[in-house]
Amino acid sequence: MPGKILITGGSGLIGTRLSEMLIDQGYEVAHLSRKPGKSSHYKSFRWDIGESYLDDSAVTYADYIIHLAGAGLADQKWTNERKKEIVRSRVESTKLLISSLQRTEHHVKGFISASGVGIYGDAGDQLMSEESTYGDDFLAEVCKAWEGAVWPVKDLGIRTVIFRTGIALSDQGGALPQLARPVKLMAGAPLGSGKQYMSWIHMDDLCRLYIRAIEDTQFEGVYNAVAPHPVTNAEFTKQLAGAMHRPLMLPKVPSFAINLMMGEMSDVVLTGQRVSANKVLQTGFTFEYNYLEEALESFYKGKDKS
Ligand SMILES: NC(=O)c1ccc[n+]([C@@H]2O[C@H](COP(=O)([O-])OP(=O)(O)OC[C@H]3O[C@@H](n4cnc5c(N)ncnc54)[C@H](OP(=O)(O)O)[C@@H]3O)[C@@H](O)[C@H]2O)c1
Repeated sequence: MPGKILITGGSGLIGTRLSEMLIDQGYEVAHLSRKPGKSSHYKSFRWDIGESYLDDSAVTYADYIIHLAGAGLADQKWTNERKKEIVRSRVESTKLLISSLQRTEHHVKGFISASGVGIYGDAGDQLMSEESTYGDDFLAEVCKAWEGAVWPVKDLGIRTVIFRTGIALSDQGGALPQLARPVKLMAGAPLGSGKQYMSWIHMDDLCRLYIRAIEDTQFEGVYNAVAPHPVTNAEFTKQLAGAMHRPLMLPKVPSFAINLMMGEMSDVVLTGQRVSANKVLQTGFTFEYNYLEEALESFYKGKDKS
């Protein structure tokens, strides 16, 4: 079964863990990167999206392509320039991959791309399935454009899967360490109303889902990649404080203060989606971490309480 997996953006948070798990299962892994060789562990190929350059030997290497590359959503303030980069890095990169697939004699059997649950916009407490309507804020537009760019892969006769990913929980980076920092300093508090839903997924479950989508050909189309039990921001903060043995004493951080600090990017923390995992569960996939408490315990149990 194992084969050769090309991961775009493989040097990132998800790509790093996914690469390790693939190697453990006997796969060969290569990265497609703006700076090949940055990670010494893996074979790597170069692309340059601004220059419309992609080394075709990346595509001819692969049995499967996993497309994770994209400029970080919360790395920099959302200036117009940054917003363009966030979209361009996902859409133009996908187009580059497609042109390479069109012009080469390749043996790619599957193409699995990330997207985000942000596609549903600010959905309140409504449970969102893959059939639900899309939002119209910036994050929703990014995801719509990204998914729109990915679908033509299917027209090349390649099995195509899109994972609308929730907040991937890892102690190595991403949202969790950011949320944990104030809690550790006894300054943790729910953000805004605290009622916005956080649809999370443990990093290891997310990577197992990617591997399952490689191996199980019933995976085709779009899936929400979230754990079965999303929680509100207030509940998340409470459970995080509990897992870290810290009290939660401060009142909620008002939305206007977060808006002042983050501008439009405050959408990342002030809006939320309650997203359903039903479609993934119906494939027979089982989550190791169904509940937030178990997921947080995996990161903080036995850690220094000081
Ligand atoms: N982490 C989450 O909670 C989460 C949730 C929903 C969706 N997602 C999506 O899943 C994907 C992977 O997430 P992640 O957390 O692993 O992201 P990440 O840590 O930010 O890594 C993304 C990778 O993309 C490449 N990249 C960065 N900026 C780029 C640019 N301007 N142009 C082209 N490539 C660029 C980089 O690889 P090189 O430096 O090697 O080129 C980077 O390592 C992202 O697209 C993200 O939006 C993540």
